[in-house]
Amino acid sequence: MADNVNDDVKNLQKEIFLKNDGYGVPAFDRMIKPLYRGVLSNPDGYARVTGPCGDTMEIFLRFENDRINEAAFETDGCGSSAACGSFAAEMAFGKTPDELLDVTGESILEKMGGAPEKEQHCAHLAGETLQEALSDYMTKTTTAGKEEELG
Ligand code: FES
Repeated sequence: MADNVNDDVKNLQKEIFLKNDGYGVPAFDRMIKPLYRGVLSNPDGYARVTGPCGDTMEIFLRFENDRINEAAFETDGCGSSAACGSFAAEMAFGKTPDELLDVTGESILEKMGGAPEKEQHCAHLAGETLQEALSDYMTKTTTAGKEEELG
């Protein structure tokens, strides 16, 4: 009985929140419970970007056979930035560097089911950080390749 009441209260809170703020249901769920939050040690690709709002996003990528097999994010920002970082990491899984180019602020917003205009920069910060982490990986692999060629 108590569980049912709790679920009803949670659903009501969710409904009110979604109506007032314009977030999609997936965004709301990730704000409450972001996935892949944390730090990866010795990542193959890493970036830390501070957005115009002053919040910082970090993305960590690990590749295996040229596909992402681990991704994580960390942020000191708002609930919205945590949801965006979560989606950026989630959307990166299993992708090649080429496929990763499609994970942008726009595609993150789409996956979130929308966000209010004043919070959309959080998705762009996550997308930009992900692309910077990819760029870090590409720079490292290109440099390592050249060093191998030179012996
Ligand atoms: Fe700065 Fe969300 S308000 S990233």
